[in-house]
Amino acid sequence: DAIDMGPYDHFMQKEIFEQPSAVANTLEMVFNAQSVSPGLFGNAAEKIFSKTHSLLILACGTSYHAGLVARYWMESVAGLPCAVEIASEYRYRNPVADPHTLVVGISQSGETADTLAAMNYAKQLGHLHSLAICNVAESALIRQTDLRFLTRAGPEIGVASTKAFTTQLASLLLLTVLLAKMRNKLSIEKEREMIAMLRHLPAALQASLQIEPEVQEWSQRFSEKRHALFLGRGMHYPIAMEGALKLKEISYIHAEAYASGELKHGPLALVDRDMPVVAIAPNDQLLGKLKSNLQEVNARGGELYVFADADTEIEESDSLHVIRLAEHAGILSPILHTIPLQLLAYHVALVKGTDVDKPRNLAKAVTVE
Ligand code: G6P
Repeated sequence: DAIDMGPYDHFMQKEIFEQPSAVANTLEMVFNAQSVSPGLFGNAAEKIFSKTHSLLILACGTSYHAGLVARYWMESVAGLPCAVEIASEYRYRNPVADPHTLVVGISQSGETADTLAAMNYAKQLGHLHSLAICNVAESALIRQTDLRFLTRAGPEIGVASTKAFTTQLASLLLLTVLLAKMRNKLSIEKEREMIAMLRHLPAALQASLQIEPEVQEWSQRFSEKRHALFLGRGMHYPIAMEGALKLKEISYIHAEAYASGELKHGPLALVDRDMPVVAIAPNDQLLGKLKSNLQEVNARGGELYVFADADTEIEESDSLHVIRLAEHAGILSPILHTIPLQLLAYHVALVKGTDVDKPRNLAKAVTVE
């Protein structure tokens, strides 16, 4: 069936703007309740989760980045050890399996060959249970796992993943809240607070989308560059990785992400006026550290493009440009900081005139190795 494009020129653009409703649909069952229940993840979830003492997340591409964010949440909120692996690496290593480490496969399509093979391999190695977080109900991944949670993003057509990613993050945060609760790490009040926060997420995403015109202004300057560096710290480091991936996928600009603390260990040597540095600067406990990283870039003549929060204290100058999100969203912040990076990649690609929805050499699902 033909999909109604509404006011949009590209699937990617449409899918970026669908994120508030995609996330609302994904979390619908939770919004109506005052508490989260294991049943959301399948009939056997209560039994399996009560024996789970750590997680192993397996995924590729953008879905891998969602897993990397989840690790920060799982550790800090649920007190659960959490490893995250690129599926194509994991499947050819000889890792030591722990039966009660729950294996979590994240995939938009549920058909990525490496993710499917890695999940099978984990089972062969002795992991007892598996969970799929996936956007396609009839997919191979959903069929082969014990537990499942469907992201309800709707069909994603643009090759560069957008709404699948934010719905994966929403699902992973939900899973974090549930596991924290089952491990007695959350009081009833705290659980309610977390649910209220999740309920606020669609509106907060909508607010993030409002900054599009400001991001668009930056896109012209980026389109002339051949390279870009993305910096982030903590749970925003994987968001920097995702931002760099989006830019290279659809605008063909070489973009690399670094954990800002690594700046002095190499990438600083590349910084000059021709290498824009994009930094994600939420107003969190790592902001002070990030700021000194930014000064190092500035001192070497680098040009900084900073995505901050409304209350991030940071001084703009000729070589330091700032776009601010409406608020600092605490634990939701990585989800909200994803939006401007998607918009940046999209608008740079428009200026460059690339095929936004079908970038050269890439496929929507990599079903062969
Ligand atoms: C391809 C797509 C990416 C996606 C990755 C993993 O590379 O172009 O957008 O993130 O596969 O796909 P999956 O369906 O497993 O999430």
